[in-house]
Amino acid sequence: MSDLIKDINLVGDDIDQKAVSCEVKVTEDTAKEGQRKLYIESYGCQMNFSDSEIVASVMQENNFGTTKDVEEADLVFLNTCSIREKAEQTVRKRLTVFNKIKKRKPGMIIGVLGCMAERLKTQLLEEEKMVDIVAGPDSYRDLPKLVGDVDEGDKGVNVFLSRDETYADIAPVRLNSNGITAMISIMRGCDNMCTFCVVPFTRGRERSRDPHSIVKEAQELFDQGYKEVTLLGQNVDSYKWSDEENNKARLEKKEKTDEIEEVVNFANLLEMVAQVSPDLRVRFSTSHPKDITDEVLYTMKKYENICKFIHLPVQSGNTRVLDLMNRTYTREWYINRIDKIREIFGDECGVSSDMITGFCSETEEEHQDTLSLMEYVKFDFSYMFFYSERPGTLAEKKLEDDIPLEVKKRRLQEVVTLQRQHAAERNALNVGQTQKVLIEGYSKRSNEHFQGRNSANKVIVFPKGDAQIGTYAMVKVHDCTGGTLLGELV
Ligand code: SAH
Ligand code: SF4
Ligand code: F3S
Repeated sequence: MSDLIKDINLVGDDIDQKAVSCEVKVTEDTAKEGQRKLYIESYGCQMNFSDSEIVASVMQENNFGTTKDVEEADLVFLNTCSIREKAEQTVRKRLTVFNKIKKRKPGMIIGVLGCMAERLKTQLLEEEKMVDIVAGPDSYRDLPKLVGDVDEGDKGVNVFLSRDETYADIAPVRLNSNGITAMISIMRGCDNMCTFCVVPFTRGRERSRDPHSIVKEAQELFDQGYKEVTLLGQNVDSYKWSDEENNKARLEKKEKTDEIEEVVNFANLLEMVAQVSPDLRVRFSTSHPKDITDEVLYTMKKYENICKFIHLPVQSGNTRVLDLMNRTYTREWYINRIDKIREIFGDECGVSSDMITGFCSETEEEHQDTLSLMEYVKFDFSYMFFYSERPGTLAEKKLEDDIPLEVKKRRLQEVVTLQRQHAAERNALNVGQTQKVLIEGYSKRSNEHFQGRNSANKVIVFPKGDAQIGTYAMVKVHDCTGGTLLGELV
């Protein structure tokens, strides 16, 4: 059993939320003659993957090209995650590897970016002497200067968290893109203060990005041939934009006031992006159960191209534990949200979750409540973790991490086993149905098969026939194995 748990946790830690791999694989060597070469690797959630694309863009503007070979690199960036202890351990191992390469190539600069940089600040520089640059998530515009500091024999540090940085004007370099699907960050930070979570400390205050810059980015992607965008934020439902500052400035300058903008909420934003084109699919992640509104659900219903899939992490099925976690909803509230989703979409809408087992003082009965909630909802998919205490969080300060590791792992195993059953049941519902699939590429196993996803985010594999990558196809599902549906073009 322990091996299985290890695997599961590896999966969880490496592919937090819906990220597909643990590294941003630089897909092209873009470095030109005379340019210094940047190698970048990312861990954690999709936000981090998206940030790495911003980093690459900032560096490109400053005469750095990318390389996919770390041995070739003049500059190595690790975009890091602090969400669980295991995530940080993975990064430390990578740093050791990079430091070995650096022994052979003394000029190589190593930078730690992202959440671990923010959490550990100068510790990585001073005590562990493993890195030259430490840059928190809001300091990426400053990276060229930090590299300059290192060139001059100093260390480069910027862990300042901003209240308004959204990188709205930076056109990301699409690093891990297949040319078909892309991520768009719509907000940064988080104000929720779930007691187990480091994100509010590593990413700072929540702020939303100008909706016009978001729509413009989606339009540009569509014009380049992209067919799907995923709008990213830790809590997309609290997206909110009112151009107050701008309005005030205009009023002061006595400019025309008829241009004053109204408040844009997440449902409005979804609609604006959906209207870019009916051929551009729109996904989003992550939704918070306390904030997801009926207006969002009805907007999803109204537009065929808004994908029918909601990542709605519940964490626990017990109200007392949810309260200790400061999730600010109850079991009943969550169930009500699910009922509403099913009322509007029936079985058509996929729902996935994140789960934490063995949170502080969780009893056996409370764990059973998580299992019974899962029975009620039958999630299509879940990311499942056992609780990992994080320094500086409210839980670390106020609650005791008192559930023995074996118990946490055993409970996790029960959650995982049940989730597998539910995924299979949910997949079986699709057998016999014809689904619209966006073809993303060849299947992992065969060059004779394509794979893509349906609206509900399920992977469907089918013989390629004369279909084309990057187009939509109608596929009749005839079977399912594990997490994948098998079908045929109709
Ligand atoms: N903003 C998202 C979650 C971001 S973190 C939300 O609120 O749903 C992704 C997931 O990591 C969380 O949903 C949670 O399940 C898990 N996680 C966060 N902190 C954790 C911790 N200390 N131990 C174990 N899992 C944790
Ligand atoms: Fe963390 Fe909670 Fe914010 Fe999600 S909503 S990022 S779990 S504090
Ligand atoms: Fe990890 Fe930071 Fe994302 S802690 S999950 S990379 S916001």
